[in-house]
Amino acid sequence: MGGVYVYVLIFLLSSLFLFLFMKRNEPPQKRAKLPPGSMGWPYTGETLQLYSQDPNTFFTSKQKRYGEIFKTHILGCPCVMLASPEAAKFVLVTQAQLFKPTYPKSKERLIGPSALFFHQGDYHLRLRKLVQGPLALDAIKCLVADIEALAASASRSWVSGGVINTFHEMKMYSFEVGILSIFGHLENRLREELKKNYCIVDKGYNSFPTNIPGTSYKKALLARKRLSKILSDIISERKEKKLNEKDLLGCLLNSKDDKGEVLTGEQIADNIIGVLFAAQDTTASVMTWIVKYLHDEPKLLEAVKAEQEEIRRKNEENNQPLTWSQTRNMPVSYKVVLESLRMASIISFTFREAVADVEYKGYLIPKGWKVMPLFRNIHHNPEFFTDPQKFDPSRFEVAPKPNTFMPFGSGLHACPGNGLAKLEILIMVHHLVTNFRWEIVGSESGIQYGPFPVPEKGLPARFWREYITS
Ligand code: HEM
Repeated sequence: MGGVYVYVLIFLLSSLFLFLFMKRNEPPQKRAKLPPGSMGWPYTGETLQLYSQDPNTFFTSKQKRYGEIFKTHILGCPCVMLASPEAAKFVLVTQAQLFKPTYPKSKERLIGPSALFFHQGDYHLRLRKLVQGPLALDAIKCLVADIEALAASASRSWVSGGVINTFHEMKMYSFEVGILSIFGHLENRLREELKKNYCIVDKGYNSFPTNIPGTSYKKALLARKRLSKILSDIISERKEKKLNEKDLLGCLLNSKDDKGEVLTGEQIADNIIGVLFAAQDTTASVMTWIVKYLHDEPKLLEAVKAEQEEIRRKNEENNQPLTWSQTRNMPVSYKVVLESLRMASIISFTFREAVADVEYKGYLIPKGWKVMPLFRNIHHNPEFFTDPQKFDPSRFEVAPKPNTFMPFGSGLHACPGNGLAKLEILIMVHHLVTNFRWEIVGSESGIQYGPFPVPEKGLPARFWREYITS
């Protein structure tokens, strides 16, 4: 009998061991549970709830109800939204290999599927290095005079007395700065051709994707084809003239991989359109918000003016243009830029897709689900930014806590154009406050999402030239 007990004991112990062993090694979905949240209606999920209101209200109310990680279902995809700095770091930096970039196919078709931000791994790293070169501080410091000339030329027509659409005008400026960093000085005719067709692509980008002739999306696809042709002509001319420029196009043309392979014409075109796309609306929205914030805060405008006037006066005395080192020493204006980036949080969130089942803080993020780090919620969390709805540049006298301020993203896909964006914004601020006064027309105080948040109707405004006697 004693032998039977021993066998039973051995059986029980080995079953327990097996149970514990399997528990440790079972896939995360068996142990971890899905985050809290609601998946909404069948098929539509919570898409209607998200798009029928200010998206920030949607995210904030969810965060209040469920905490820093919650699930939802939008645009036909199950999603996990993450609203804490640690979670954003987990997805974008420490475990970035588990989350790939993801965009709707219709958008990829318009930009071009070889643009770097659609990729992960070796191809992305190669392209990223190439794009970073001409956007690095050492390279962009040579562009100050040209960008200042673009700011002056963009604003020349604003003072006719009429009302301008600030966002539209800022888009024209950021487009020209983008062209400058990609092609250096480009022949007028080609620049106009690029602009004309790019505007059609831009218009179709947020329209319903269909191949039906006459629709904005179809027109955009056709314009995208024409853009490829224009770019291929520019490339042929460069090759013919054996021009060896240091701008982005030059870097893309000269690149060879380990096997000595050069990039194809399509890869070059997709990345040029990709950079133009990443550079234009983003920077233009921030500048539009700055025009509004400075208008709404007269004391702040005076402080920025005083800083910029001193630079202007010095430059007039010495008969010199604005210099790179001056743009690096504008502490008041720089803090206004940072606070505008926080306050407007124009990239409210980004999208990734889990490439495997991932566990985060005991919650399962299933393979194939979309993952969205919510930058805006982090930027507007009173735990990290006191009185977050107040526009207060002085908060940047102290550096924000790690991973709480990510207007340019973080990790492998963080914005390589952030230095250029800040430079062109500061040059525009210098030009604006030393040359103009402005008033905002109309009483709308709403926000328009297109998809970046911009003041309603693009911030209609009237500008006057201000002649300052020193
Ligand atoms: C204020 C203006 C700008 C803001 C707020 C901004 C923001 C961002 C953010 C948040 C990302 C990361 C997106 C993600 O992780 O999914 C990004 C990526 C990128 N940005 Fe910007 N950006 C700005 C201006 C620019 C400019 C001027 C350029 C180029 C001239 C540029 C080029 C890019 C590119 C190429 C990427 C993709 C990088 C990659 O995937 O490796 N951006 N930007």
